[in-house]
Amino acid sequence: MRILDITVALSSLALFAAAAPAPFGKNQLPDGMPSPSPDQVKLIEQAAHGTLPNGPPPPVISSEGIVNLKLIAFNELFEVAFFNELITNITNKVEGYDIDEEEDHVKVLDALKAILAVCIKNVHIQISHSLTVLVFQQEELHALRANDALEHFKVNKIQPCEYTFPISDFKSAIALAATFTDVVLGTLQDVVERFALGRDVDLAREIASVIGQEGEQQGWFRASQGKIPSELPFLTTSDLNFAFTAIQDFVVPGSCPNINEIPLRTFEGLKILSTPGPQDQNITVQFNDPDHEADHSLWLTYINQQNLPIVEPLRFVSRNGKEVQAEALFPFEENEMNGLTIAAVTKSSGPFTDASSVAQWTLAGPGLIIVN
Ligand SMILES: *[C@@H]1O[C@H](CO)[C@@H](O)[C@H](O)[C@H]1NC(C)=O
Ligand SMILES: *[C@@H]1O[C@H](CO)[C@@H](O)[C@H](O)[C@H]1NC(C)=O
Repeated sequence: MRILDITVALSSLALFAAAAPAPFGKNQLPDGMPSPSPDQVKLIEQAAHGTLPNGPPPPVISSEGIVNLKLIAFNELFEVAFFNELITNITNKVEGYDIDEEEDHVKVLDALKAILAVCIKNVHIQISHSLTVLVFQQEELHALRANDALEHFKVNKIQPCEYTFPISDFKSAIALAATFTDVVLGTLQDVVERFALGRDVDLAREIASVIGQEGEQQGWFRASQGKIPSELPFLTTSDLNFAFTAIQDFVVPGSCPNINEIPLRTFEGLKILSTPGPQDQNITVQFNDPDHEADHSLWLTYINQQNLPIVEPLRFVSRNGKEVQAEALFPFEENEMNGLTIAAVTKSSGPFTDASSVAQWTLAGPGLIIVN
């Protein structure tokens, strides 16, 4: 992009920078979320570059369809909290989110180079800031749409929780956003299938439009990490229960007013201790095993792309209280395991036909691996 183009882009984006939200207290989201006034909705729509669908939700919905809407609302509220906090950190130049710190590193360059470098970096962070605001406003509309639909079907709206994020710099924030967006992109496939099984035709179409939006967002997260924007020819799939468990990693325990109204399973946590690269290797994982399931055979099952799940025997390494460490092969080469892989410790060796059959036999998961 030429500097002139960037300036033009920036001035049209300056509008959003001005809408930067302030920090909020416990369980509190900006813009009146999760129940904004009609005026607040108008402002969110303007900033999001578009509107909520203005047709009514369909007259009937399947019971699985309701579970879909609850999971979507639960996820989108978490995303709204995340992006709100990220914008707040950039706006307030919190350490790790402050471009000015980086200026010191370029002082050694000659004057012209330095000015150019700072200029480009500032442009980068300002675009990042403005685009983050845009992403955040669009996520607010997703959350609203799911909760409005629940209300329409006379089901309680999902309330936000208190959240905590394991990051303290801009780069890690974007890497985390890319990871949870990958899980969302896989999970929305499951949402569409469940809507299809329940004959919730109109809702399936609307989710397809959201999948595209999340994919566009993901292209930007990936590009700003220096990766190619489109991750795989067929994105990795997931299951609602894996997303439900993964989001709870960022939730302060006991802070969700009505998480108990979401009828999904929460698995034991699974950590990938050695991040694998693009080759065959053994990886070490750690999981909670309060019931001593590791006294019997367990497997590490991988979900990648649209392929049949890959099952590898898990070798016990050590136990410390209820925490178990174990090792298994990550068979990259035979399976071309690029992009997101969802790992799960399973109590069966399968063979599994799909992600939901893996979830049925899961003890601990999801462990999230992204190669390339
Ligand atoms: C914002 O910054 C604080 C302080 O470093 C950090 O604890 C928090 O995780 C950051 N949040 C995001 C979303 O980057
Ligand atoms: C993984 O560990 C097993 C058992 O120790 C070993 O036989 C195998 O060669 C290892 N594989 C790789 C790719 O390192």
